[in-house]
Amino acid sequence: MKIKNICCIGAGYVGGPTMAVIAQKCPQVKVTVVDINEHRINAWNNKDLSKLPVYEPGLDKVVEEARGRNLFFSTQVDQAIDEADMIFISVNTPTKTYGKGKGMAADLKYIELCARQIARVATTDKIVVEKSTLPVRTASAIKSILDNTSNDNKVKFQILSNPEFLAEGTAVTDLLNPDRVLIGGDNTTSEGKEAIAALVNIYADWVPKQRILTTNVWSSELSKLTANAFLAQRVSSINSLSELCEKTEADVNEVAKAIGMDSRIGSKFLKASVGFGGSCFQKDILNLVYIAKTYGLEEVADYWEQVIIMNDHQKRRFAHNIISTLFNTVSGKKIAFLGWAFKKDTNDTRESAAIYVADELLSEQSQISVYDPKVNAEQMYTDLDYLNTRSAEETRNGLLVNQDPYEACKDAHAIAILTEWDEFKTYDWQKIYDQMQKPAFLFDGRGILDIPPLEEIGFVCYKIGSSNKNL
Ligand code: UDX
Ligand code: ADP
Repeated sequence: MKIKNICCIGAGYVGGPTMAVIAQKCPQVKVTVVDINEHRINAWNNKDLSKLPVYEPGLDKVVEEARGRNLFFSTQVDQAIDEADMIFISVNTPTKTYGKGKGMAADLKYIELCARQIARVATTDKIVVEKSTLPVRTASAIKSILDNTSNDNKVKFQILSNPEFLAEGTAVTDLLNPDRVLIGGDNTTSEGKEAIAALVNIYADWVPKQRILTTNVWSSELSKLTANAFLAQRVSSINSLSELCEKTEADVNEVAKAIGMDSRIGSKFLKASVGFGGSCFQKDILNLVYIAKTYGLEEVADYWEQVIIMNDHQKRRFAHNIISTLFNTVSGKKIAFLGWAFKKDTNDTRESAAIYVADELLSEQSQISVYDPKVNAEQMYTDLDYLNTRSAEETRNGLLVNQDPYEACKDAHAIAILTEWDEFKTYDWQKIYDQMQKPAFLFDGRGILDIPPLEEIGFVCYKIGSSNKNL
């Protein structure tokens, strides 16, 4: 079976870039990305490619090539569903904020709404692909909704799981050259096998066949959660050692290098930091913990929950370190933040460590001034308002946003580096130092700056995971 028409529900960080690359690589397939958020769709259709709603290096070129040819962005959800032979569900699955499983389980209401909408609208057979990260066994819920609420009993649905492994900031290269593509489906029936083959064929246009892995639906769903849990666990493991290094004169970067050269351990994801963020790690681990608890597996749940506990500790520890170093009071003191995004090369701020560090410092009445090359002020305020720690007015008085990094740092008592943007390394640090209050403190939460030269200028530096004898 050859797919001619794809619809993707959800034009976010996953749906947008993924569909843009599929459209670029499969010009014979019409790809329509739909979203209920009109503002987002308009931004995807903006002629000015610097205004796309998702910032990803290289994405503008891909969109430029495919948009209007076989890639379309629209709010006409029903029409796109009906025309498609394959529908990707790429809507958000945030952690539940209410009811059973609050703060842990994934909120599947958007997924369920999509399934009901597909069932209501579909007049021809559909292959429905789960792209969003979902708890294991969600496919059976989707299948049941589709089969039981369809308007037309003759319409047949096949469900596939095709989790996304792209990392933000490198989405385009990850999509063009993935380590693997995972496709889970019902491999016990001929219809199921046909659906799997149809999706394999799409990716086979640019991904070598041996990198396309097919499994049953449940393995695929669980592998996505597990891959993120393993990656996050590595970051929490190295972060736990960063604190020990600070006490023992070991240096976490040297330790990471030494252990990473063991090919059984490997060198990636061993960068100590102020804590991991992003839309996936925390959410997916909480989800895994919740699933384990549901099956009564308390030890399994506790094991994975510790990864989150360590991460929360690392963010708080960084903030408290600033407070204690600044003579135990930051009240009324200006503290400059360089970076707000959860990592470099993205405008995404979900679960960014910067939000939590800012929250702790605002509670101590410090004056924060932030510079981030891609995140706007409105987003930063929304992130803090979401925590609900203080009034919107207090937040806006306590945190100011600057378009110019030198202005953000001027007259500050301390600078905190929260995101590893490359441009920070190129700044005139002498100039920044000259305009600061003295002693000029610098807290590098990302281990990106060359500390000895900065110390020669006169900065008093804190670096995650080294002994920081000068503090
Ligand atoms: C992650 C997975 O990598 C990706 O495969 C999955 O599809 C979605 O979740 P993403 O959240 O975009 O991707 O970013 P990632 O590069 O994994 O970084 C997550 C967080 O960990 C960031 O805050 C990053 O700064 C932090 N991190 C990562 C570290 O602190 N140290 C490291 O060594 C690596
Ligand atoms: P992700 O990082 O998983 O892509 P985002 O929040 O960036 O998450 O994107 C999810 C998108 O899905 C949002 O733009 C949201 O408006 C959209 N969405 C959620 N529910 C529906 C729905 N029922 N129909 C269409 N779009 C939806």
